Amino acid sequence: MNIKNICCIGAGYVGGPTMAIIAQKNPHINVTVVDINHDRINLWNSEDLTKLPIFEPGLDKVVSETRGKNLFFSTDVEKNIVNSQMIFISVNTPTKTFGDGKGMAADLRYVELCARKIAEVAKTDKIVVEKSTLPVKTAAAIKNILDETGSGVKFEILSNPEFLAEGTAMRDLEVPDRVLIGGGQDKSGKIAIESLVNIYKSWVPKENILTTNLWSSELSKLVANAFLAQRISSINSVSELCESTGADVDEVAKAIGMDSRIGSKFLKSSVGFGGSCFQKDILNLVYISKSLGLNKVADYWNQVIILNNHQRERFAKNILTSLYNTVAGKKICFLGWSFKKNTNDTRESAAIYVADLLLEEKAYISVFDPKVSSNQIYSDLNYLQTRNENINRDLLKVNDCPYIASDNSHAIAILTEWDEFKDYDWKKIYDNMKKPAFVFDGRNILEKQKLEKIGFIYKGIGKTYE
Ligand code: NAD
Ligand code: UGA
Repeated sequence: MNIKNICCIGAGYVGGPTMAIIAQKNPHINVTVVDINHDRINLWNSEDLTKLPIFEPGLDKVVSETRGKNLFFSTDVEKNIVNSQMIFISVNTPTKTFGDGKGMAADLRYVELCARKIAEVAKTDKIVVEKSTLPVKTAAAIKNILDETGSGVKFEILSNPEFLAEGTAMRDLEVPDRVLIGGGQDKSGKIAIESLVNIYKSWVPKENILTTNLWSSELSKLVANAFLAQRISSINSVSELCESTGADVDEVAKAIGMDSRIGSKFLKSSVGFGGSCFQKDILNLVYISKSLGLNKVADYWNQVIILNNHQRERFAKNILTSLYNTVAGKKICFLGWSFKKNTNDTRESAAIYVADLLLEEKAYISVFDPKVSSNQIYSDLNYLQTRNENINRDLLKVNDCPYIASDNSHAIAILTEWDEFKDYDWKKIYDNMKKPAFVFDGRNILEKQKLEKIGFIYKGIGKTYE
């Protein structure tokens, strides 16, 4: 099929950047990203590119090159479905918070709504592409809804999971390790696969475009995230061993990572992984395994989550015990709130859980993050429902200056690995803190020796704690 118009449903962290790159590399194709969230679409259309709804290095440049030419953002979902030959579904697929599978299974209601809307309004044949991360076999359900509720037009379903990581999304999209496209293996399935291959071929070498059957593609996405998260939990488990033995986790990571069979990436020990996907996708994998009666497989992957929760709790506990078993009334400064550097995304950030545990101990927390708004921070905390909002606002303050945030504090906790933290005037920070002044480096980004020379008590993850 010759694709002239693409519609992407969902203008989020995936839909926005992915479609911006597809539009940039395919000037002959009109790409419209639609969303039911009017505020989000208005921000995507804002003249001032610093106001785009997501912060992603390099995104503003691609949007400025393409928006209004062949990239559009709109709330008119129906019209754009009707006008397109290919429709990407890139809506959120969070963990279910109710009913059967609560806390584990993927909540597929947004995906189903998209399928029903497409079926309702489509007047010509469409290729429907799953861009969202979905449980294996979802394509069968989507196909069923489309065929049963549509008006007789033909639908082909493809799975094209996205592997970008936030903070490096534009580079990941520009030079992906691979693009994965799963589809039906009959004639019309293969034609649909080829249509999508042609779009990616505009900039991705053919040998990096992998085509598979639908189920391999859907499952590979969950498995890729599970493997990545597993490496972090593995090294974080080692960090606890290091703290009890005098080994240094960064030295161990380097030593094992130089073995080319293990590899050096994704071995950075931390306060725990966050982000909207690792936990949700592993829980989903665990749920699928359990549903299939594969309990040992489910237990195996669930351990990755158990260890991650443990790492966050361990970090909070270490602050508590180091500060002489009481943080009540003490001020602790958090540097960083986003789940990783170079993003304003806070979903499942370790900072939220560490703050929650310390607030329960009646600590005062002051937060500085270069990109996260105070509204977002309070909304993250309120979402946990551990305390009422007034108490959260009373105990936790957000500051837009790191030096004021750390003023008079007993300890600093590094929750996100923002590069700028390394360049701060640490002597100035030390001088204005209560003594002894502690740094709990949840990302191991600061130089222990330099800080100890200033006078700090420095505690990194997986570095010896006396
Ligand atoms: P997001 O929450 O940022 O964006 C989803 C958007 O979909 C929202 O703006 C929402 O308003 C919109 N939406 C929901 N239902 C809709 C409907 N019926 N019609 C129109 N719009 C609708 O989510 P995201 O981070 O972009 O993730 C989307 C999917 O991609 C998820 O399945 C996720 O697992 C997957 N994924 C995310 C990342 C990432 O880095 N964030 C990377 C790879 C894959
Ligand atoms: C991750 C995957 O890397 C992407 O391939 C995938 O597309 C995406 O999930 C998704 O499906 O949403 P993302 O969550 O954006 O991307 O960011 P990562 O770089 O993977 O980091 C995730 C978390 O792990 C962060 O909190 C990060 O700080 C932490 N991390 C990462 C570590 O603690 N140590 C590491 O060595 C690497």
